[in-house]
Amino acid sequence: MPVVAVIGGQWGDEGKGKIVDVLAEKAQVVMRFSGGNNAGHTVVNDKGEFRLHLVPSGIFHPQTRCLIGNGVVIDPAALLEEMDALGSRGVAVDNLFISPRSHVVMPYHILLDALEEKARGSAAIGTTGKGIGPAFADKVARLGIRTTDLVDKEAFLARLRLILELKNRLIVQMYGGSPLSLEEIYQSYCHYGERLSPHIEDTDVMVQEAVAKGEAILLEGAQGTMLDLDFGTYPYVTSSSPGCVAGGAAGGTGLGPTQIDHVVGVLKAYTTRVGGGPMPTELEDEVGERIRERGKEYGATTGRARRCGWFDAVVAAYSARVNGFTATAITRLDVLDSFPEVKICVAYQVDGAVYRRPPNSLALWYKAQPICETMSGWQTATSHIRRLEDLPPAALAYIKRLEALVGCPVAMVSVGAAREQIIVINHLL
Ligand code: IMP
Ligand code: MG
Repeated sequence: MPVVAVIGGQWGDEGKGKIVDVLAEKAQVVMRFSGGNNAGHTVVNDKGEFRLHLVPSGIFHPQTRCLIGNGVVIDPAALLEEMDALGSRGVAVDNLFISPRSHVVMPYHILLDALEEKARGSAAIGTTGKGIGPAFADKVARLGIRTTDLVDKEAFLARLRLILELKNRLIVQMYGGSPLSLEEIYQSYCHYGERLSPHIEDTDVMVQEAVAKGEAILLEGAQGTMLDLDFGTYPYVTSSSPGCVAGGAAGGTGLGPTQIDHVVGVLKAYTTRVGGGPMPTELEDEVGERIRERGKEYGATTGRARRCGWFDAVVAAYSARVNGFTATAITRLDVLDSFPEVKICVAYQVDGAVYRRPPNSLALWYKAQPICETMSGWQTATSHIRRLEDLPPAALAYIKRLEALVGCPVAMVSVGAAREQIIVINHLL
């Protein structure tokens, strides 16, 4: 049985949670490999509507083991809150396991996230404010605290004392803030460590054992390719290391790249972005507003209104290449149901030149003007449709055009939020 990575092909919020929830029915393992609780994965199923931030979207299938890999940063308070909330709604979390190598989001990360954003002024990134950037920065700077550190209390105290002294100097002297209390952080994080300890397991070993047994494994991406530290619209990206591209699915789990059989790129039928940074197809008009209202495009983590625009095939084809997509899942087709015409950006005009791949510099990104193809809309509801051939001809033509432009076969088309609102062309598992 295969190992399938599910990767965001745009700026996040493509509907990865829904696709993972659908695929997880046949998976023995679902594993997160990057990001943290900046992610917001919405899943709607027979148990209701859920917003997951750290817990893998396979949690609703009782037979599925859900692993949080070494590449994820964990805010233990947020994780415990999410676990408790799931438990109170009848979703068991006994099958949830956390890598001891995962890094921990500390209170100073959250504080510094806010202070750094303020210091950036008009160049603020528009982060989710969850401390993710500072936590990954500390991981790379070798000043991180890992989940395993929380269970060795003496060693934890010594390490926290050292790191907090540096952080408090930064907070007080650089930003004029108030120092954080060692005692308070120590006590609360020891408590989190105790509560999480039954879930701490060598997830890299677990996933390798699952591969050896031939189990079906899903690697659940967070954020999207254009938010990747290397391949995204730097510096308007997320700091996750490993990145949010398919390559990160190896580094963030303990699998080797050759053990990943398929890479499914999740692409929304239009484009959204939340936070700052370039977005060539953004529509700051009534069309963009209509997409936002029909698609309820408000952030699952921060509630912010998402920026909306037409499908950007320059971005999607680039994503297909840097991730090695073997198939795509097109989501939210139904949001476009009411439009008389739909557009697809096929190239950018930058300073009079035509670009068919994204530029590198931020300045050129901001200058990129979309060159669009216009197709007729279908103006018919699609949410009830379960077979590709039953789509209205204009909707089918739109999907086929996306497939040709992205250069990768479409395996699924999602036509609504609920688990069953999906057209499956290739089951993948
Ligand atoms: P951070 O990850 O909180 O540091 O935020 C960096 C950028 O990534 C901001 O523009 C966020 O809005 C964006 N971002 C982070 N996580 C997500 C996500 O799950 N979906 C969409 N955008 C995200
Ligand atoms: Mg999201």
